Amino acid sequence: MPTKLLCVAGARPNFMKIAPLMRALRANPKWDARLVHTGQHYDAAMSKVFFDDLAIPRPDIELEVGSGSHAAQTAEIMKRFEPVIIAEQPQGVIVVGDVNSTIACALVTAKLTLEKSFPSSFGERRRPLVIHVEAGLRSFDDDMPEEINRKLTDAISDVLFVSDPAGVENLAKEGVAKERVVFVGNVMIDTLIAAKGRAMESRVLETLGLREREYALLTLHRPSNVDDPKTLGPLLETIDEIAKEVRIVFPVHPRTRARIAAHGITLDPSRWTVVEPLGYLDFLKLTATAKVVLTDSGGIQEETTVLGVPCITLRENTERPVTITEGTNVLAGTKREAILAAYERFQKSPPPGRAPRFWDGKSAARIDEALSAIFR
Ligand code: UD1
Repeated sequence: MPTKLLCVAGARPNFMKIAPLMRALRANPKWDARLVHTGQHYDAAMSKVFFDDLAIPRPDIELEVGSGSHAAQTAEIMKRFEPVIIAEQPQGVIVVGDVNSTIACALVTAKLTLEKSFPSSFGERRRPLVIHVEAGLRSFDDDMPEEINRKLTDAISDVLFVSDPAGVENLAKEGVAKERVVFVGNVMIDTLIAAKGRAMESRVLETLGLREREYALLTLHRPSNVDDPKTLGPLLETIDEIAKEVRIVFPVHPRTRARIAAHGITLDPSRWTVVEPLGYLDFLKLTATAKVVLTDSGGIQEETTVLGVPCITLRENTERPVTITEGTNVLAGTKREAILAAYERFQKSPPPGRAPRFWDGKSAARIDEALSAIFR
């Protein structure tokens, strides 16, 4: 009998992480790997396009939770996941990243007693193993909902797969037993490497009337940047100063679009190309050929690092320090002077950047191998 694993994805940044895992696990007859989509993100542009672009198998189970406050959304995912896991009786549940779907499904899993026990390298188990991919990241900023999700998920995980070397240190400091922590590299980069050839064929530059290295790409969606007009307004004004030198291409997250509309902010179309959220391939092409990227996303700091494209992070901290020490990332925060200074610095000397260790397209294979040793 194959070992049953439930793999959970819910929000946009999860899809790039689950894609290579599903591919690796489904190729190994040792596993019966089923995909659960919580439905935290549900718009076609936030979800379906990634399944198409990345050939992610159709979910076996869809929880269709939709949006809500943190408590309502997390609770709803838990309520809907519990009967699924009881019916499925998996030996392991794989959660990725740091979104509400991650902690919700991890917490349900950690408290489930299975009908039958199973052997593992941690001894005979009556509860499924909680397996966290992208464990150990810490921004040390508890105002960030993802930081709470990361700390709580790691605290109840049995197996912690780490992408950034700092993650290994963070978990050691928190007292996580060494034998539970495996540095496997970055599954999101598996996806980037697999898709880059196809992405470079995207016609998105032609569609938007852009030329390579003649635009800056912007993304913004963190509540701390977009929810308060006193932050969002000045931030967009600063970026508008950069727009006087280089066109800004801005695919807008639904949360941000709603805030821009609510605050009555306008972006001059002679300097700004404002578009709906893009699919993976189009966005990767836009990132790879941008002059510079400005973002508050975590994943984009990693993607620009591997692509060697300068990245200005519009946050005061990052949970992905290797993108600064080895990559192309600079933390500019949200203050005007620092953002403009970072932009000027990159004009003069673009950062060299290199791919960190194990960000090589083989992380999902390492996870498959490590799990094979754990589930005997
Ligand atoms: C979530 C993650 C964040 C991740 C981001 C990527 C948490 C706590 N946050 O934030 O870590 O970086 O996804 O996008 O899990 N909405 C739509 N359509 C959708 C999804 C959302 O219109 O398909 C709108 C809704 O109005 C919703 C708002 O966007 O209330 C925010 O969505 P939500 O999933 O709560 O959080 P994100 O800001 O997307």
